[in-house]
Amino acid sequence: MEREFLEEPQEIEEIDFLEEIKANNLIILANALTKDYEIGDFIVRAVDNVSLRVKESDFVIIKGPSGAGKTTLLNLIGGLDSPKSGVVYSNMVRITNLQEESLATFRLINVGFIFQNYNLISTLTAEENIMFPMKLAGLSLKEQRERAVDLLKKVGLGERREHLPFQLSAGEQQRVAIARALANNPEIILADEPTANIDKETSVFIRDLFKDIKQDKKTIIIATHDDFLIELANRIISFEDGKIIKEEIVEI
Ligand SMILES: Nc1ncnc2c1ncn2[C@@H]1O[C@H](COP(=O)(O)OP(=O)(O)OP(=O)(O)O)[C@@H](O)[C@H]1O
Ligand SMILES: [Mg+2]
Repeated sequence: MEREFLEEPQEIEEIDFLEEIKANNLIILANALTKDYEIGDFIVRAVDNVSLRVKESDFVIIKGPSGAGKTTLLNLIGGLDSPKSGVVYSNMVRITNLQEESLATFRLINVGFIFQNYNLISTLTAEENIMFPMKLAGLSLKEQRERAVDLLKKVGLGERREHLPFQLSAGEQQRVAIARALANNPEIILADEPTANIDKETSVFIRDLFKDIKQDKKTIIIATHDDFLIELANRIISFEDGKIIKEEIVEI
């Protein structure tokens, strides 16, 4: 289609961005993202005109002090939150302004989230928590259970199938959360402080899990304020006051 014939600015933008995505093998294209939080008369600009391109199989660490806006940025990239301005393409889909239902389906299949506070469903067992996204995706009960058992073994919790979240340690809950993030085999893994509040030994285990995930050619973005996972990354982005202030590329 010739560009002159397109009248809608969004369509022109879309063609330009999709060309860029294809030319550079991008899995995420975030352009000029801004996000404000308004509390009364007070506005916090949590993300300030941020652009980020992420290629397939990139392992990106976003580091920066508390309040820098790392969680907000991850939520925008993952489609858990929408920007005030700017646009996000993820896996070739323009997720900004998608209807909530389409967005939820997109996230379910394409993005695995790992949260700082694990966000497990308290009334479901470890196994059921991992089965839940597969149930939403329409897998049979048998498939859900088999994959959940495999994933529990992968995260070293084969013996904890029937445990409820409150019966698991922090590190075990996080491992269940990682297994849940992998349930639908998403291309993109977004993790927010995955080793915060976790003892050293489990952190090492989690680092090895991320190494495995990386070997599976997933695209991984981790927000963190410690340096613990940094050795795995090929890109280290320093984030401060809602902006990218530095980026280091590591040849691996
Ligand atoms: N729901 C919200 N309502 C109002 N302000 C918020 C909200 N969420 C975040 N903020 C503000 O936005 C800014 C960025 O917060 P964000 O949680 O993204 O930072 P962060 O880099 O993830 O910090 P941390 O390392 O402590 O997790 C902070 O100033 C915070 O107070
Ligand atoms: Mg945060």
